[in-house]
Amino acid sequence: MERTFVMIKPDGVQRNLIGKIISRFEDKGYRIVAMKLMQVTRDLAERHYEEHRGKPFFESLIDYITSGPVVVMVLEGKDVVAGVRKMNGATNPAEAAPGTIRGDYALDIGRNVIHGADSVESAQREISIYFKEEELLNYEKVTEKWIYEYE
Ligand code: GTP
Ligand code: MG
Repeated sequence: MERTFVMIKPDGVQRNLIGKIISRFEDKGYRIVAMKLMQVTRDLAERHYEEHRGKPFFESLIDYITSGPVVVMVLEGKDVVAGVRKMNGATNPAEAAPGTIRGDYALDIGRNVIHGADSVESAQREISIYFKEEELLNYEKVTEKWIYEYE
């Protein structure tokens, strides 16, 4: 089953949105296979966002991501990478549709509450940065046959 990497950014934690955001993903039918609250170090943030190194917003992005605890998780489900990106909404909350997380909970591109990996390859890379293999759990949920026609 496809996996993605998701982070509730420091603003999401400070604004008490952890439960609401996790509920959206649970309600959709995705399975949480790993999750933790953590403080991201500068070194880790720079590795995560290395594709943006050299861009004008890079330093402020690293300041933002390291500004307080975040919740990181691995979600599993059918087409979960694209599905989570859709649920997150456009990078700039001003352009994010209502009903998306950024559309409903954010106003500023530098405080856009949530991160989701942008491809299956990025997801694998980010999962390996934030989690050890033994932190990823394999388990079944009884609701699965009510979420998927074919198992
Ligand atoms: P992530 O899921 O966080 O990776 O967002 P994204 O994939 O929708 O956007 P992208 O990877 O291009 O940018 C990473 C993050 O950098 C964004 O989520 C923003 O927090 C921040 N960012 C991107 N562009 C800008 C910008 O023009 N200005 C500022 N201040 N921040 C930006
Ligand atoms: Mg990105």
